[in-house]
Amino acid sequence: MRLQNRLTTVNLSVLFVFLAFLSPAVATVTDQTDFSSRKRYGHVITKSDASVGFPYFLSSFTGLLIDDGEDKGGEANGLDLVRRAPDGGSLGNNKFESREILMGEIQYWHFSNSFAGTSTVNSTSDTPETSTAKRATSTVYVSLTICSKPILNESVSGATQDLPQLAVYVSTSDSLREPGPDKDSKDQTVHHSEEGYMSAMVPTESGVYIGVAAPNSGKFSGSYSYQLAASTDDFFHKFADHSTLLTLVDADSEAALLTTEAPADRILTEDQLKQWRNSTGVYNIFINNANNSPVAGMSRSYCALEQHSQVGTGDGVEASMSTRKRTNNELQQQFYITGLNRSSTYNGVLAMSGNSSDSGNGVGGGGMVWRPEPFTTKSDRNCAVIYDLDFCSDIAYAVPSNPSMNLSQLRSKYDSHAEDLYKNFNYSLQQIQCNTSNETIFSMTVNCTVCATAYKDWLCAVTIPKCDDFSSTKNTSAVMIRNAAQAFPNGTEITNKTLREDPVRNRSRNDLFIDKEIEPGPYKEVLPSIDVCHDLVRNCPMALGFQCPTGKWLQYSYSLSAGSILGTPSSLGFQAIILAAASGLLWLF
Ligand SMILES: *[C@@H]1O[C@H](CO)[C@@H](O)[C@H](O)[C@H]1NC(C)=O
Ligand SMILES: *[C@@H]1O[C@H](CO)[C@@H](O)[C@H](O)[C@H]1NC(C)=O
Ligand SMILES: *[C@@H]1O[C@H](CO)[C@@H](O)[C@H](O)[C@H]1NC(C)=O
Ligand SMILES: *[C@@H]1O[C@H](CO)[C@@H](O)[C@H](O)[C@H]1NC(C)=O
Ligand SMILES: *[C@@H]1O[C@H](CO)[C@@H](O)[C@H](O)[C@H]1NC(C)=O
Ligand SMILES: *[C@@H]1O[C@H](CO)[C@@H](O)[C@H](O)[C@H]1NC(C)=O
Ligand SMILES: *[C@@H]1O[C@H](CO)[C@@H](O)[C@H](O)[C@H]1NC(C)=O
Ligand SMILES: *[C@@H]1O[C@H](CO)[C@@H](O)[C@H](O)[C@H]1NC(C)=O
Ligand SMILES: *[C@@H]1O[C@H](CO)[C@@H](O)[C@H](O)[C@H]1NC(C)=O
Ligand SMILES: *[C@@H]1O[C@H](CO)[C@@H](O)[C@H](O)[C@H]1NC(C)=O
Ligand SMILES: *[C@@H]1O[C@H](CO)[C@@H](O)[C@H](O)[C@H]1NC(C)=O
Ligand SMILES: *[C@@H]1O[C@H](CO)[C@@H](O)[C@H](O)[C@H]1NC(C)=O
Repeated sequence: MRLQNRLTTVNLSVLFVFLAFLSPAVATVTDQTDFSSRKRYGHVITKSDASVGFPYFLSSFTGLLIDDGEDKGGEANGLDLVRRAPDGGSLGNNKFESREILMGEIQYWHFSNSFAGTSTVNSTSDTPETSTAKRATSTVYVSLTICSKPILNESVSGATQDLPQLAVYVSTSDSLREPGPDKDSKDQTVHHSEEGYMSAMVPTESGVYIGVAAPNSGKFSGSYSYQLAASTDDFFHKFADHSTLLTLVDADSEAALLTTEAPADRILTEDQLKQWRNSTGVYNIFINNANNSPVAGMSRSYCALEQHSQVGTGDGVEASMSTRKRTNNELQQQFYITGLNRSSTYNGVLAMSGNSSDSGNGVGGGGMVWRPEPFTTKSDRNCAVIYDLDFCSDIAYAVPSNPSMNLSQLRSKYDSHAEDLYKNFNYSLQQIQCNTSNETIFSMTVNCTVCATAYKDWLCAVTIPKCDDFSSTKNTSAVMIRNAAQAFPNGTEITNKTLREDPVRNRSRNDLFIDKEIEPGPYKEVLPSIDVCHDLVRNCPMALGFQCPTGKWLQYSYSLSAGSILGTPSSLGFQAIILAAASGLLWLF
């Protein structure tokens, strides 16, 4: 009754205040055949087996020539088959070394490539010199990450200083065993780290000589720490330049929800995919302020992200798995980040640790990092991100809220409100002959299940508005100011008389619920796509009387997607909706 009364007395413009996301069709689970190249790990074992008679290799499976575990200075452990690198450390295959380096210092490393070419290693007398002729050219993957950086001198003022990066000099010639800035450049190549990461594929017939040089800079003092690794299989440390694999779902003033996006699931190994399907995430996320980041200059380095991020694997991240219609019901890992500052821009970086069972060693053991995904938090405190509701399970965005309400209260208020409204509809649907013979069923092509789903999608989109800051200047066409007549939660009121008296803008589209029970104050509603309305009209029996608004009423309540303008039903909707409401079939506000 309350509903009917309102309908007859209230300006019609409040009828169509709707919002939400369009939900694309349900998609099938994609088949998972494209696994990563990690299987080459087994390849090494085969090679080691083929190389005759040295049990150490068989047990280690790493192709290691020098046991570098405790071997900082390159001391031999009786396994030193090849010449040691002069004055430097030795690198084992797929094992990292970590070291500190002072500003202006250079450190030399050597990787012996005996296992990369043909298997010629046999006895202890088989030095690289004597066997070189038999070896084929092969590729050595050299990678370096900066884990921590020197300190900026206090006397250096002004804008933030870019971190000087490390230079990695590489030689494959036995005549240049200490490559570096002072050496003849034709025998060496130089690679500079970028954002704390450097990688190079080095073709070689024998070993690789490496010089790591820290620049001299008057602006910084102290030392870097870095990880260096070489491998005959693949890069030990990886950075994926091509994609972020991460997408922002929505943010409020202190929290944000991000999810992985395709092909995050398709690059997993078989083991990881099993975990993933069993609702265990395999990715990590690191969050840092874009302007004042503790990982500035090192954002491509897993170890730096892990050690210095503002928000990382521990506090402030709730990771879980999710499926939503909007992303074709594909399984995704989602991250709910808390403890952020308002009106700030952050970089979210998706990462994968090397190998959790074996901290750091093994092919690709240094971890993988994707490109940063920037996002900005809202400024007002009256929007809050909610997700994974029980009934409106596809809703995941910021909704009008009130700082005095906690998140679980807010979630259950919206969700149970929508569910209550759905019950009325569900009852109405039972009155329609859904399960009868072909002659009486309302449509040959759709059935009541489809209608019920379309109604639920529309209902959730419209009862749970997507919220943005009142002051936001984004999306000027698909947003509508709402609730302008109510004070902000901090008591401040809007003085603009036009807004306060505009029936479309001075209240929420479902004001009895939002304005009275949530009391968010003024906000902007990001309008739902008209497609949710069209889907409803198309998939439900005529008898239910659904119509989508047209003309200016449409613009007050929905956003037009590119394809939707032509499809707008031509008949005016008011009458039909009022009739339907009067007959108790349709919920309105
Ligand atoms: C390895 O070296 C030993 C001793 O020099 C020799 O007897 C053996 O035949 C060699 N094996 C191969 C596969 O060359
Ligand atoms: C920076 O600090 C180092 C070490 O304390 C010092 O030698 C250098 O002169 C300082 N540079 C500047 C510009 O203050
Ligand atoms: C799936 O996860 C549950 C709970 O974490 C665990 O008990 C179970 O062993 C896992 N199953 C597989 C196949 O990994
Ligand atoms: C939030 O701002 C405070 C004060 O400026 C700062 O100390 C803190 O690190 C910031 N936190 C994040 C996550 O940005
Ligand atoms: C992790 O390491 C273990 C033992 O070293 C190995 O069996 C496993 O295949 C590795 N997993 C991945 C994903 O590399
Ligand atoms: C109250 O909140 C609004 C929106 O966040 C803000 O614009 C306004 O300045 C605040 N007023 C006071 C007194 O803090
Ligand atoms: C949220 O608020 C309700 C009611 O005040 C309270 O019962 C509940 O424990 C709160 N939940 C959390 C997580 O604080
Ligand atoms: C809708 O009604 C049917 C039949 O009474 C019932 O099985 C179903 O649980 C109802 N759905 C909801 C969401 O209430
Ligand atoms: C239609 O019939 C099927 C099978 O008898 C039943 O499961 C379903 O709930 C019915 N649908 C409605 C809307 O009554
Ligand atoms: C209804 O239509 C289906 C397929 O269109 C047909 O197989 C079925 O026999 C029809 N049922 C009746 C009662 O006509
Ligand atoms: C309703 O239609 C959909 C799509 O055509 C179909 O998948 C589903 O099985 C149908 N449900 C019933 C109860 O007939
Ligand atoms: C009041 O708000 C309306 C609509 O946003 C705007 O066009 C108008 O300029 C505002 N008036 C004042 C005095 O700010």
